[in-house]
Amino acid sequence: MSSESGPHGEVATATGAGDPIPDPGIPPHEPRLTDIDERAARRAERQVATFFGLAALLLVAFVVLYVVVPKNATFLGFGASHMGLGLTLGLALLFIGVGAVQWARKLMDDHEIVEERHPSSSTEEDRQETIAIVRQGAQESGIGRRTLIRRTLIAALATLGLPVVILLRDLGPLPGSRPAHTVWRRGVRIVNDVTFKPLRPEDISMGMLVNAVPENIQELPEGRERNAARAKAAVILVRMREDDIRALPNRRNWGVDGILCYSKICTHVGCPVNLYEQLTRQVFCPCHQSTFDLSDNGRVVFGPAARSLPQLPIMVDSEGYLVAQSDFTEPVGPSYWERG
Ligand code: FES
Repeated sequence: MSSESGPHGEVATATGAGDPIPDPGIPPHEPRLTDIDERAARRAERQVATFFGLAALLLVAFVVLYVVVPKNATFLGFGASHMGLGLTLGLALLFIGVGAVQWARKLMDDHEIVEERHPSSSTEEDRQETIAIVRQGAQESGIGRRTLIRRTLIAALATLGLPVVILLRDLGPLPGSRPAHTVWRRGVRIVNDVTFKPLRPEDISMGMLVNAVPENIQELPEGRERNAARAKAAVILVRMREDDIRALPNRRNWGVDGILCYSKICTHVGCPVNLYEQLTRQVFCPCHQSTFDLSDNGRVVFGPAARSLPQLPIMVDSEGYLVAQSDFTEPVGPSYWERG
């Protein structure tokens, strides 16, 4: 190994096989046009500001299009709303990116640095140095003195949040108290969900599971409203030995001769539960295997469901039919973020 003088100073040269490749050094610094010509620098500044300004305008256009273009309008065979929103948001993001790149390439301080490799854990001294470099970078970027760029960038970034807020509207209205109520009321008969025949206790045999609905859903107009009410109010009835039931103190009178009634909607994400195992008195959800113990207040014994299966309190009316004592005392179906 030997050394010789090169254009960038003393460099090592390879003298034989196995010698390290010589360090070529850092090429000489070439100043950019914007470093030596103030007019070019101002031109570049206007370019960058134009990109940021256009981005801000496009984001405002995004909001305007969202409000004024009907959802079903078409343009060149495509959905006009989707096309307009996609183009304005996409171009705005592109312009912010292009503006930032141009700013860094043409205006931020330009000098080469050599970064030595060092152990991966940094010392306190290194951290302080890093903070100083970040501060220096902020200073060198000129954000403090280039007010046009700063303002247009702030405008572009501030308006970037608008589409996010606007798109939240598409999530629809909050469900409010709707999931908490079904059409079950005191005295509403429990009917078979296929024949709509009112059920008596003797129709439910030991170990049997019967799918049922409230009789009053037939009073609702056919179609969406009835289907929604039916889906929410669907229940399962099972009969078990009364000695096997471990009812909470306030639920001791919620069953009839060992017959218990539960919501059919899984509390995980709402699949119908109806795979019943007589021996364990557990009902199983086929979607993600949540398992509920119907002899123990619908408690979750396995799976991802986070809460018990809601139980419907039932009794027998004066004509011997099974009826509800009230609506469910808790919301049926999957848990929602707004529930307490
Ligand atoms: S919907 Fe029942 S376990 Fe997921």
